[in-house]
Amino acid sequence: MRRAVCPGSFDPPTNGHLDIVQRAASLFDEVVVGVGVNASKSRLFSADERIDMLTEAVADLPNVTVAGFSGLLTTFCQERGIHAIVKGLRAVSDFDYELQMAQMNSSLTDVETVFVPTSPEWSFLASSLVKEVATFGGDVSGLVPDFVLTRLTARLAERAG
Ligand code: PNS
Repeated sequence: MRRAVCPGSFDPPTNGHLDIVQRAASLFDEVVVGVGVNASKSRLFSADERIDMLTEAVADLPNVTVAGFSGLLTTFCQERGIHAIVKGLRAVSDFDYELQMAQMNSSLTDVETVFVPTSPEWSFLASSLVKEVATFGGDVSGLVPDFVLTRLTARLAERAG
């Protein structure tokens, strides 16, 4: 059984994330979307909210599940018998940091990182930019699933109000 994790913060999940998850699902028997729950950055959505959104987003992918993790990604991999980490690369600017994490992770446990090139249509897409654009009233429909857009709009309205 070839198992992989697609890890991230997913605050919020974007169409770029989902593109990588779908492609990982075609390469591996089982894929777990691993939601980092205790990263230091402040989050717009709680871990449970991010897990809920991702669970809805991958509902049509039978070999994909979603789980939160705290602590090291390599510990999560060891606990679940996962030997591959799938990461999307949007541009060469992603590469330095991703390479460093891949090498650190493989030094910690028996895990390989597989880099998947982001589809060109999503190469500019980042959760942080989606939040910033939406905060200032820009149109991010088409960059996130409709149900994520609904939750994002509601959360930003709560914060503003
Ligand atoms: O979406 P992000 O913010 O790029 O996701 C980063 C994430 C959660 C994948 C990364 O920070 C991570 O793996 N965190 C878990 C803690 C860990 O294992 N740190 C050592 C990395 S070498």
